[in-house]
Amino acid sequence: MNQVASYKNILTENREGIMVITINRESKLNALTIDTLQEIKMAVEHAHNINGLKGIVITGAGPKAFAAGADISEFVNFSEEEGTRMSAAGHEVMNTIENGPKPVIAAVNGFALGGGCELAMACHIRVASENAKFGQPEVSLGVPPGYGGTQRLVQLVGKGAAIEMLLTGDAIDANHALRIGLVNHVVPMEELYAKSKEIIEKIATKSPVALKKVLNCVNDYFRPNVNGMQREIYEFGDAFGTDDFKEGTDAFLNKRKAAFKGK
Ligand code: COA
Repeated sequence: MNQVASYKNILTENREGIMVITINRESKLNALTIDTLQEIKMAVEHAHNINGLKGIVITGAGPKAFAAGADISEFVNFSEEEGTRMSAAGHEVMNTIENGPKPVIAAVNGFALGGGCELAMACHIRVASENAKFGQPEVSLGVPPGYGGTQRLVQLVGKGAAIEMLLTGDAIDANHALRIGLVNHVVPMEELYAKSKEIIEKIATKSPVALKKVLNCVNDYFRPNVNGMQREIYEFGDAFGTDDFKEGTDAFLNKRKAAFKGK
C-alpha cells in the first residue's frame, strides 16, 4: 500500500490521484480519539497541498463502522476546560475538511455515530453502504454533540428531522438517511469506493478554479454576517481573469474537451 505518511491511527493512500484516508481502529469501531482526529486533519491538509490531486475519500477500516463516535474512554474524566478544548479542536478538523479546496467524500461503511456522523457531515458528499447507520447519541451520555452536529445536521436535513435525531439519539439506516438528504447515495458495500471514485473523477474533469469558488460560495451561505450572494458576484467576476475560464469557454466554442490547469 502506497502509505503517504506515517500515522498511528489512520492509513493514507494516494490511489491514482485520490487520497484515501482510512480510520484504522477497527477493534474500537474506529472511535475517534483526539490524536486520530488530528491525524485526519494533517492528512487532509497534506492532500490539499498535493498538486493535481483530484479529491479525498474518508472511510473506516473493516465492514462494521465508519466511526462509532468520539472515543468515550478518552474523555470520560475530562473537566469543563478539557471538554471545551476537545470540542474546539474537533471543530477545527471539521472546518479544515469543509473549507478546503478539494472535494472530500465520506464513504460511510457502517456506523457513523456521534463524531463519526459529524465527520461525515463535514465532508462535501456522503456515499453510504447499505448497512450504514447514522445517529447523534450524545444525549445518552449527558452531552450535546460537540463537533458541529447540532449545526451541520440542521443544514443538511432541516430543523424538524435534525431535532428528532438529536433529541432521541436514535440511529437511522442508510435508506432513511437518503430520504432525508443526509447522504447523497446508498450502494452495496463492495461498490462504496467505486461510487466515491466515480464522483471524484467526474468533478476532476471540471475547472479547479471554479470548483474552489463554488465551495467558497456554498460555505458562505452558512456563515452568519457574510453575504453569499455578494461572494458569488465577486467569485464570478474574478473567474473571468483566469486561464481556466479562457480554456473552458474556448474548448466549448471549438467543440473540444477542456484541459484545465487550475489557474
Ligand atoms: N468510544 C470508545 N470505544 C468504543 C466506542 C466509542 N465511541 N464505540 C465502540 N467502542 C468500542 C467498544 O467499547 C468495544 O471495545 P471492547 O471490545 O474493548 O469492549 C468495541 O468498540 C466494539 O464495540 P461494541 O459496543 O462491543 O460493539 P456492538 O456491535 O455491540 O455495538 C455500537 C456497536 C456502535 C452500537 C456501540 O459500540 C456503541 O453504542 N458505541 C458508542 C456510540 C456512541 O455513543 N457514540 C457517541 C460518542 S460521543
